[in-house]
Amino acid sequence: MSTVAAASDAAQLKSAREDIKELLKSKFCHPILVRLGWHDAGTYNKNIEEWAKRGGANGSLRFEIELKHAANAGLVDALKLIQPIKDKYSGVTYADLFQMASATAIEEAGGPKIPMKYGRVDVSVPDECPEEGRLPDAGPPKPADHLRGVFYRMGLDDKEIVALSGAHTLGRSRPERSGWGKPETKYTKNGPGAPGGQSWTAEWLKFDNSYFKDIKERKDEDLLVLPTDAALFEDPSFKVYAEKYAEDKEAFFKDYAEAHAKLSNLGAKFDPPEGIMLDGVAGEKFVAAKYSSGKVRELSETMKQKIRAEYEAVGGSPDKPLQSNYFLNIIIVIAVLALLTSLLGN
Ligand code: HEM
Repeated sequence: MSTVAAASDAAQLKSAREDIKELLKSKFCHPILVRLGWHDAGTYNKNIEEWAKRGGANGSLRFEIELKHAANAGLVDALKLIQPIKDKYSGVTYADLFQMASATAIEEAGGPKIPMKYGRVDVSVPDECPEEGRLPDAGPPKPADHLRGVFYRMGLDDKEIVALSGAHTLGRSRPERSGWGKPETKYTKNGPGAPGGQSWTAEWLKFDNSYFKDIKERKDEDLLVLPTDAALFEDPSFKVYAEKYAEDKEAFFKDYAEAHAKLSNLGAKFDPPEGIMLDGVAGEKFVAAKYSSGKVRELSETMKQKIRAEYEAVGGSPDKPLQSNYFLNIIIVIAVLALLTSLLGN
């Protein structure tokens, strides 16, 4: 087990992402990789300033002591699946690989593009692992209060709790791991991947909004509803979002993508501090921001995407400003048009 703590390298990150896609195609392991990323990040405590005591996306989940936490039952299998990719790319940290595997799994399962950035630094030793008990229970006495207690500690709000819970559109619960779910159902008895467990949705390798539809209807005994899932339609504040997502897949995808990216950054220390972005969206050195106000100011991801789309529509890019003769060309075209109009007018 490597204890390398350095941050990641962009070229290697891109290759690693291709390897993750291949792994997903052959193993159908999308759900467990999403759970791996979530359980590394979800230990974050916003009330603790010190890295890595605050927990979060720092690769600590690779250490046995944390993998043995009850909430992480079964995740050693996820680590085994991606360890060969880690071994291949010394320039990719565990913290980045866990989050990349999760985001790529969502995207490859048909979910939204997650505006990810990379460059997370790994913790180096097991002593830096968080104590047990920071992740949510599935069956606490007051599920809504419990969810708020855990997710508010991470700095996430009601909308984000509901959106992120929608990740249960993927995967299964296994009694031998978490104690929840049936040993098998008509949807899981033949896999794909290792058979068994109980899924929240019929097509549990497809990312869509069926989780919200299914827990609302509760018509199928073969589909799982944990007490914390049920709370999303019982609590008045959660319910607003759960109803919306059951109706509107696009609204769910938009909120999910934002919440997932936020979750993936919790507690992380980035090197370089602005992060490394691979697809021209999150964490980029956004030169365009300089043009508007004269000072560099961090824009929201949505705004960056809008600006990028506008630049790209005219063949440019915010980090590669348009060539000056582009404007000259426009002026020439306008002048020619004006000339033609006046000639035709005569
Ligand atoms: C809201 C509080 C949550 C609770 C109480 C909860 C609980 C659980 C439980 C009990 C399992 C079954 C594990 C097993 O038996 O293998 C599970 C699986 C899973 N969870 Fe959650 N979870 C929560 C939130 C989340 C979030 C925020 C995400 C991701 C963003 C997530 C993603 C998953 C996935 C993808 C699986 C399926 C894993 C597989 O098929 O191997 N969960 N969760």
